[in-house]
Amino acid sequence: MKPYTFEKSEALFERAKKVIPGGIYGHQSPLLLTKGAYPSFFARGEGSHVWDVDGNEYIDYMCSYGPIVLGHRHPRVEEAVRRQGDLGNCFNAPTERWVELAEYLVSITPFADWAVFAKNGSDVCTYATVVARQATGRPKIAMCQGAYHGAHAWCTPVTSGLTPEDRANIVYFTYNDLESLQRVVAENHGKIAGLMISPFRHDAGHDSELPVEGFLSGVRKICDDHGIVFILDDVRAGFRLHMGGSGELFGVRPDLSTYCKAIANGYPLAACLGRDSLRKASQEVFFTGSYFTSAVPMAASLATLRELEATDGIERMRAIGEKLRTGLLSEARSHGIEVTYSGPPAIPYMTFKADAGRFDRNKLFCGECSRSGVYFAPRHNWFISTAISDQDLERTLEVTDRAFAAVKSQFVA
Ligand SMILES: Cc1ncc(COP(=O)(O)O)c(C=O)c1O
Repeated sequence: MKPYTFEKSEALFERAKKVIPGGIYGHQSPLLLTKGAYPSFFARGEGSHVWDVDGNEYIDYMCSYGPIVLGHRHPRVEEAVRRQGDLGNCFNAPTERWVELAEYLVSITPFADWAVFAKNGSDVCTYATVVARQATGRPKIAMCQGAYHGAHAWCTPVTSGLTPEDRANIVYFTYNDLESLQRVVAENHGKIAGLMISPFRHDAGHDSELPVEGFLSGVRKICDDHGIVFILDDVRAGFRLHMGGSGELFGVRPDLSTYCKAIANGYPLAACLGRDSLRKASQEVFFTGSYFTSAVPMAASLATLRELEATDGIERMRAIGEKLRTGLLSEARSHGIEVTYSGPPAIPYMTFKADAGRFDRNKLFCGECSRSGVYFAPRHNWFISTAISDQDLERTLEVTDRAFAAVKSQFVA
């Protein structure tokens, strides 16, 4: 098969740069990918496959960087979207979906008594910090160094355009290091309102880290001992690891949890779930947005989550992820290449040991895969959807085997 070319993508990108600063910004910027090996624009998706504007077809292991959990255009989700769309999306007050979805989320989440809705992960992560501050009357938020909780001023990884005041109330500790948290809590005694943490460490451009035994329960205990609100940022991992929240997989229950990405199979929706003890604070803070009550994404969410639950989608993604991992590790071994394969099977990431924190081999490997119809990103964890078939996996492993061979031939060590 001939490697793909991207003439239409390139022409569109040139047009985009004239009217959109940088052409494409944020995590989908082509600057983060392998030059010349990826499309910049997509045209359509179906199940586990996506097609770019040049007509090239890919097996999708990025899933729109998380949102697509059942595959593109899942029939049950699209049917729910059509049905709600026929009635209308955006009114002067919410629809019944608002209540149904909150009831459903509370029913599947052991710790939660209420839910609120928004559009992006950043919205609900910031909201959770505001609720924690209102509930405790304290100013500070603790988070892990290098963690991503969104694009808002208090947590964005890029500090251009910010003031020191934007970060004045944020204190940092290290994932999987309880002593570092104890130190931060002691240094800020009585001042920490909330602690935000992801269920596993998935900082961009780093190997992922699962929580070591006792870490998350230790965090829970420190929060309890010091009256700190425990906020689980489940925006990335939510509904890929456990239907009751990723904390359930690791034996920890937060006070607040935040969701986005997989919650509605690509339709714009985010949620924050909380305990009764924080209901009053939640009512006292201001939270709103032009589209927060839109009904179509909520209908999509109900259909997505019910489908995941009815078909044990979580187990399916785990099993697919295991097969991918076994296949890739066996290929890497057969080429004599050392890789680090990290993260849970449904949200994996692979790096090349010899890259030593750079991404040269990863960029070559992922670029070779992209040009042969398998879409992985080199500097970001990947996402499995329930739509990946055995045939997709077989095809994927043929392509990755050749990509490993390309790495072997272009890098001596
Ligand atoms: C863990 C985590 N928190 C928060 C966010 C922010 O979500 P959004 O991009 O929807 O604002 C992300 C997005 O990638 C995320 O991965």
